[in-house]
Amino acid sequence: MMGCEGWSLLWLACLVSSFLQNCAVRVTVRESSVEVVRGDSVTLPCTFFTMMPLYRLSIIWTLTPVSDPASPMQVIVYDHGQVIESPSFMGRVGFTGMPWSADVVLNDTRMSDAGVFRCVVSNPPETGDPGIGELSLTVLAPPSLPVCLWEGDTDAGGSVKLSCMALEGFPSPQMIWEKLEPDQINLPVNMDGEKTGSVQIANFSAQNSGLYRCSVSNLLGTQHCYINLSVYIHPDNSPGILQGVLLSLSMALLLLALIVLVLWLHRSAQESKWINSREEEECYNEIKYTPTLIKRSFV
Ligand SMILES: *[C@@H]1O[C@H](CO)[C@@H](O)[C@H](O)[C@H]1NC(C)=O
Ligand SMILES: *[C@@H]1O[C@H](CO)[C@@H](O)[C@H](O)[C@H]1NC(C)=O
Ligand SMILES: *[C@@H]1O[C@H](CO)[C@@H](O)[C@H](O)[C@H]1NC(C)=O
Repeated sequence: MMGCEGWSLLWLACLVSSFLQNCAVRVTVRESSVEVVRGDSVTLPCTFFTMMPLYRLSIIWTLTPVSDPASPMQVIVYDHGQVIESPSFMGRVGFTGMPWSADVVLNDTRMSDAGVFRCVVSNPPETGDPGIGELSLTVLAPPSLPVCLWEGDTDAGGSVKLSCMALEGFPSPQMIWEKLEPDQINLPVNMDGEKTGSVQIANFSAQNSGLYRCSVSNLLGTQHCYINLSVYIHPDNSPGILQGVLLSLSMALLLLALIVLVLWLHRSAQESKWINSREEEECYNEIKYTPTLIKRSFV
């Protein structure tokens, strides 16, 4: 940092050289990093100093997003007295101190606004490079409601995996898994990336039954989700055998009944076929002889 003497010297040099028309615009930012809670408004400071009148003042604000540093974008432009907002900031951004300062206010902040902002100020006919100010914006967000899931086998002796997913939150939320009942116990968490944490329970037993809680928290808040596990005990063996015997016995009886039914149906089908064919013959005879009977009665 330059001392007071340094600054006055520079200013003097600038004053002198501005008469020779080769002093650049100087830009200062009051804070080099700014924090905002998502959804709130924030002022991005940028002050400039120029020796020339402001007829052709031009200010360009750009953002290099944290989420995509390879594609910096324009935020808002002031040029020849006109203000142009970029589509992704439309209606959310505006100059607050024009034309004396290049400060902007950004409303309704989003996670995607986090990154490095630059204000680039030039004021022709002032020559030299444009003045550039740079500041970083951090967008904070409380953790979102996490999702608790379990998979595996709650039979005695089985293994169970509990997992907890926290999709949002900045700074990245800390994750804790606890068993709440009968005593509160902290469980070791394996993090899979920043968003998912899991707990492995081997040899599941009645002692592992109970209520489990996952907590995700950062400086803006805490959220929980719960899982209630209960061990599945197989029914005792002796009633099991009895049930098995009874079951196979009733199956055998059912099968026997079916066989009898099929045999009976088969037989009765054959009998009815025989009766039918006899009936058909009788009918044929009747039809055959009826006209002669009628004829005879008229004769
Ligand atoms: C930002 O919000 C403030 C307060 O609600 C409002 O006065 C201002 O006009 C807004 N600015 C823009 C650019 O929307
Ligand atoms: C599983 O737990 C049961 C009861 O808690 C215990 O008797 C058994 O030795 C354990 N088995 C293993 C492999 O740890
Ligand atoms: C957990 O499950 C057990 C058995 O299903 C039940 O008795 C208990 O009330 C449940 N606890 C909670 C907090 O849901």
